[in-house]
Amino acid sequence: MKVVVGTNEEISKLIAEEFIKQVQKKPNSVLGLATGTSPIEVYANMIKANKEGRVSFKDVATFNLDEYIGLEGTHDQSYRYFMNKYLFDGLDIDKARTHVLKGVGDYLAYANQYDALIASFGGIDLQILGIGSDGHIAFNEPGTPFDSLTHVAELTEQTIKDNSRLFNDISEVPTKAVTMGLKSIMNARKIVLIATGKNKAQAIYNLLKGPMTEEVPCSILQKHPDCTIYVDEDAYSLVK
Ligand code: GLP
Repeated sequence: MKVVVGTNEEISKLIAEEFIKQVQKKPNSVLGLATGTSPIEVYANMIKANKEGRVSFKDVATFNLDEYIGLEGTHDQSYRYFMNKYLFDGLDIDKARTHVLKGVGDYLAYANQYDALIASFGGIDLQILGIGSDGHIAFNEPGTPFDSLTHVAELTEQTIKDNSRLFNDISEVPTKAVTMGLKSIMNARKIVLIATGKNKAQAIYNLLKGPMTEEVPCSILQKHPDCTIYVDEDAYSLVK
């Protein structure tokens, strides 16, 4: 794993450039996308490059990592809503080629075919990840099998607490989600992970220095052949 340390502004620009380069090289790239506050500035930089005419996303296909069970795509805390707001609405992308797991209706059937759908597009070329303070990636909580594909996950108390900052009240945070599994994520050809802030420091320490164990879901990335970890000084503080 490579590590890049910089301010949020610097690392967000660098990651956006990775996506831009990827799409310039292969206009019909398959991009793996994440939600959370961490990638917001990355997406803003991608929109800027698109508007400046440096890159077009019109032939790209995207797959998002996860979605809360129980939220419609129009709910302002759903990940479909987030993606439209922070990325897709600002790009020349074909929305029909953007895939986000469903949180309602036939969400289980859709989840069960998600890995096959990704494979039918040729697999993910470049995947961005955030990280939970407990070391989760997507919604793969501690104890998730390393060989997991897309599945239903129960959120831990810690995750519900962390994510409640975005809801009116903690009681509104869904307790379940559908998520790509750890194997689904490892299938991506290239991975970039972004983490900022002191509350990610332990997770980043465990990712870079700890043993590879299912108790620390992100530790599986240690065996990915092309994975770069982008952190700010705070998230890196325990490693230094
Ligand atoms: C959620 C998402 C993760 C994300 C994490 C961190 O739990 N399912 O994909 O990495 O939040 O979010 P943030 O970047 O807001 O700290």
